[in-house]
Amino acid sequence: MSRERNWQDLIAVSELETGDVTPVRLGTRELAVYDTADGITVSMARCTHGAANLCDGYFDGRHIECPLHQGLFDARTGEALAAPARVKLRMIEARVSGAMVQVLL
Ligand code: FES
Repeated sequence: MSRERNWQDLIAVSELETGDVTPVRLGTRELAVYDTADGITVSMARCTHGAANLCDGYFDGRHIECPLHQGLFDARTGEALAAPARVKLRMIEARVSGAMVQVLL
């Protein structure tokens, strides 16, 4: 039996840090919402290399740099671009619906 996934409201678009990364907690999940030049994307907030929260890192509109060891990820795809980060970020499917950012969980 397959589990149905539903779109879920995450945060109002008006509450996002414009052109930056916004931390959002959804239940026990810590998510990072990126306002990229290509649209809104969402990933798990924890770095895949260690225990850092990427929301505390530097975001240039496309890349997120981990605050702990400066691993680099593409915030649109989750691809790990620079060591020591080697494992891709887990991206969460997201969309903007009306005034809300929604995620598919
Ligand atoms: S914890 Fe993020 S690069 Fe090491």
